[in-house]
Amino acid sequence: MPFRNDFIWGAATSSYQIEGAAREDGKGLSVWDAFSHQPGKVFEGHTGDVACDHYHRYLEDIGLMARMGIRNYRFSVSWPRLMPEGTGAVNPKGVDFYSRLVDALLEKGIRPWMTLYHWDLPYALQARGGWENPDMPGWFEAYAALCARSYGDRVKDFIPLNEPQCFIGLGYGNGIHAPGLIMGPHAMVPMAHHVLVANGRAVQALRALVPGCKVAYAPNMSPCIPATGSGEDIAAARAAFFNMPEGEKWYWNVPWWSDPVMLGEYPSQGLSRLGCFLPKGWEKDMPLIHQKLDYYGQNIYQGNVISAADNARGWEEKPHPPGIAKTGIQWPITPEALYWGPRFLYERYQTPILITENGLSCHDALSLDGRVHDPNRENYVRRYLRALRRAADDGVAIAGYFYWSLMDNFEWAQGYSDRFGLIHVDYETGRRTLKESAWWYKEVMEANGENL
Ligand code: FCB
Repeated sequence: MPFRNDFIWGAATSSYQIEGAAREDGKGLSVWDAFSHQPGKVFEGHTGDVACDHYHRYLEDIGLMARMGIRNYRFSVSWPRLMPEGTGAVNPKGVDFYSRLVDALLEKGIRPWMTLYHWDLPYALQARGGWENPDMPGWFEAYAALCARSYGDRVKDFIPLNEPQCFIGLGYGNGIHAPGLIMGPHAMVPMAHHVLVANGRAVQALRALVPGCKVAYAPNMSPCIPATGSGEDIAAARAAFFNMPEGEKWYWNVPWWSDPVMLGEYPSQGLSRLGCFLPKGWEKDMPLIHQKLDYYGQNIYQGNVISAADNARGWEEKPHPPGIAKTGIQWPITPEALYWGPRFLYERYQTPILITENGLSCHDALSLDGRVHDPNRENYVRRYLRALRRAADDGVAIAGYFYWSLMDNFEWAQGYSDRFGLIHVDYETGRRTLKESAWWYKEVMEANGENL
């Protein structure tokens, strides 16, 4: 069976990972510019200074997208390119870049999906405390309004935030991502709250300025997969998925980041542990945080296996089988994550699920025949998409799927060591080569998944 007729097929990228031109045309510093230049933070000292040089090659990249049959493109806007200090003065050349990009996409019949924040916070705002500062929601709203006014005549699909768990958890919890800080819940819980308020204010601004626009949220998660199809294991996996993890890992909790947005309340289990850290008067923010969304986006790559257990919580995590297939970045390949994640999330939140990211890194190489043979990518995507289609067949509203990533790019702390793209990029010459998986994905999109 194919996916539904209006299924959204696409591919995704983000600004810092592909654009380069880090100090060009008036762009301000982002926390990632600063972090990647600190010794020892990124694999082999790589930075996003040049990346895929998409800032200069965007027309070529859009041409490739058109050849690959991409109809939906999710990309992000660099806040410091638009507002070098994060607030106040606007950089016209930055505004113009995305305007040209959007025009070129539309000319090729490609629908732009604009992410407003994919982690490249203006450094000037970090110097004022970043997400710790209670003024952040207001600054973010002003930036969202600028995007809405600049592009809303042509862009109708927006994703204010990408993976809040990661930019708060990895950025301020364990310091492996920018800005590289290690803080406790006394600082991080208020930050997380500011993030949720910022999302609410951005959604309101977008809806006010771009009537009829569609807005999504894009957290990430590792779904819990029941070890067997038994009712006990399914119930155990559901309980584990929505459970608050122990200790410092609280920021991976699904309900903490999603219940306020989707249901208008913090989960009681989380509140009893973290409520004492919330900023004073947090209750009054809940209606603002609880904005209706058109899609509940999900970045899903891998899952954990759970079975029922005879212990106090009623479940336990099973180790993956020895020798389980892993991607280049060493993430276990667990296609069922794309069945159980959407199923459990749809049960709880009743909002159409949009897979805003899924994909794998491989050790892709340009072969002597000039091609990039990447059967492992096809194998991975085929298996995950089959699981997703099964969820759709079982009644889960699945709106679409974006492959991560359109092209190889700067994979954060891993630098250029991991290649997630459908397009191979030679970082020395900038040369692009469509991988075999790009042609395969084209056929899948054309057949609406019937050939999976
Ligand atoms: C996600 C990020 C994205 C990319 C993929 C592999 O966590 O949103 O930028 O790095 O992982």
